[in-house]
Amino acid sequence: MKIISVANQKGGVGKTTTAVHLAHWFAMEGYQVLLVDFDAQGHACLSLGIEKADGLFRLMVNDYSISEVAIEARPNLHLIQSDKTTNRIKYFMSDQPMREFMIANKLSEAESLYDLVIIDQAPGSDLLQIGSLIASDSLIVPTRMDQLALDSVLEIITSARALGNYPNVDPPQLIGVLPNEFDLITKETLQNIERLQKAVGSHFVLPPIPRDTSVREASSRGMTLWEYAPTSRAAIGYENEGPIVNSQNRVGGYLHLCEIVRDASR
Ligand SMILES: Nc1ncnc2c1ncn2[C@@H]1O[C@H](COP(=O)(O)OP(=O)(O)O)[C@@H](O)[C@H]1O
Ligand SMILES: [Mg+2]
Repeated sequence: MKIISVANQKGGVGKTTTAVHLAHWFAMEGYQVLLVDFDAQGHACLSLGIEKADGLFRLMVNDYSISEVAIEARPNLHLIQSDKTTNRIKYFMSDQPMREFMIANKLSEAESLYDLVIIDQAPGSDLLQIGSLIASDSLIVPTRMDQLALDSVLEIITSARALGNYPNVDPPQLIGVLPNEFDLITKETLQNIERLQKAVGSHFVLPPIPRDTSVREASSRGMTLWEYAPTSRAAIGYENEGPIVNSQNRVGGYLHLCEIVRDASR
């Protein structure tokens, strides 16, 4: 079992969209997948057409088991729901012994049940973020391509690496930074891609997700792109003649990301 966190301390950068599309794609590929919504806004739930609920609170605070709180969102895809009660979990955790490791301990129950756990992190940097990064094997950092957004990319990568200072903690491996709402033609975007490549290393910059209204349309209907617009650019990427392409001979889009994550997790 692998645990992947989708994280960035900034909101509105595409964390939830990325987590949901990864989770659903792997489920469609036959993996047993658990998606955990760590954001009190419950957007991962809503994006799948499922109501918010206190699943995560019951798991972490009331000591329910994963199988008691996870619900079936799609075939092979289980979801631990979140709602405003999630905001109270960190206060409960802060009094507990080994508080940074509580999430890792809880999620270790998933080992016998799932092939893949995807964590949709909330913005911010509290005990829930630290605990879920400690629990994670790997990390994807979605970002928009403006200058300020790039700043927060470096912050999350630095905080993840700093977890190596805890005894017995392997910090999550960075799968990559994911440029989202990417606009091929603006000069600013292209300059910022170069900046990002310099800052994190070009092999850590993933093929981008195009800006595409289908993304908002799909999530507002409680559907993923795999259901609502499987041939949209955000799903399968741009036409491309370059060397790095996905299985549809295109570059970018969620298909490309999913294939890279699958290959990285082999
Ligand atoms: N590639 C994209 N093109 C267009 N809209 C997008 C794209 N990615 C995300 N969005 C929209 O932007 C908003 C924020 O995305 P979301 O995934 O919820 O971000 P976060 O979880 O980081 O706050 C949502 O309304 C989402 O539908
Ligand atoms: Mg979100």
